[in-house]
Amino acid sequence: MVDMDQLQQRALQELEDVGSSEGLEAWRQAYLGRAGELTTALRGIGQLPAAERPAAGQRANQVRQVLTSAFEAREKAIEAQSLAAMLESSSLDVRLPGRPPSLGHLHVINQVLRDVYAIFAQMGFSVFQTREVEDDTTNFQMLNIPPDHPARDMWSTFYTTTPGVLLRTHTSPGQVHAMRQFHPDPFRVILPGKCYRYEQVTTRSEYMFHQVEGLAIGQHITMGDLKGILEHFARQMFGPERRLRFRASYFPFTEPSAEADVDCAICGGKGCQLCKHTGWLEILGGGMVHPTVLANGGYDPAIYSGFAFGMGPERLALLKYGINDIRLFYANDVRFLQQFG
Ligand code: DAH
Repeated sequence: MVDMDQLQQRALQELEDVGSSEGLEAWRQAYLGRAGELTTALRGIGQLPAAERPAAGQRANQVRQVLTSAFEAREKAIEAQSLAAMLESSSLDVRLPGRPPSLGHLHVINQVLRDVYAIFAQMGFSVFQTREVEDDTTNFQMLNIPPDHPARDMWSTFYTTTPGVLLRTHTSPGQVHAMRQFHPDPFRVILPGKCYRYEQVTTRSEYMFHQVEGLAIGQHITMGDLKGILEHFARQMFGPERRLRFRASYFPFTEPSAEADVDCAICGGKGCQLCKHTGWLEILGGGMVHPTVLANGGYDPAIYSGFAFGMGPERLALLKYGINDIRLFYANDVRFLQQFG
């Protein structure tokens, strides 16, 4: 039988000289592996006289425990050493602050749109999405704008090569789609989306822009309801002390029609560059849905009434953030857009 004391001593001594994980593995194979010295010795115990076996077995198992825990300790020490060596030799300094990946964010117009949705949701309006490509009938005629109507001049338009098909010039044709979908129930919706007009691009107009249309249809709806919801909207959007004023206006699809202004948040109504020294900023058009439009949507104007309005989110953003050029929104200059992250 092998001398266990001598085996243990030799193994421990060799282990002390091991300096790498490869050396460690070789040592493990030599002593504790399947063909290792200790394993072989353990196997040899079976050949001993029966009386010697228990003592020999016990001693061999002690040695196995000693060698195993010595191995584990050495393994840990070698790992720590090699980590320290790596940190020493490489230029990675884990104490330096990391470089955070740059995160994107919603475009400022989408943020404004979501603000608008949230404010109208409080008042029971849901969002109704309709098409961006319209026909002449829905974009104009159903809204009380016949082919020879002078109001068409305001909406000089992108026509497609298919006769009568155009990019919508406003979200108002969505009113007809909504009425036909909800008829004969009362309802209130907002209709957001992109609109297109063939226009000279200036600081105040773009050929693509957004609108949010509003439409409420039911019985006994009045201009007072329109004023009330718009006032609530303006205060939520621009601050609780904002005032709203209505001016008489004209749209073919509403009667009576109005335009609404908020008092200028920058100068508080005293007059400044942003409000062109009037103290007021126009934010939307609206009015009571014209009886002809109600009928085109399937609602009997003798029984039903409704209000409608249309506003431009780009315009709201200009006012809210005091921006002076609408072209900045779509010029894709990240230095501008990042301010709204
Ligand atoms: N569609 C109009 C425009 O593009 C805005 C508008 C005015 C919408 C009055 C309405 C409304 O619903 O009642 O200028």
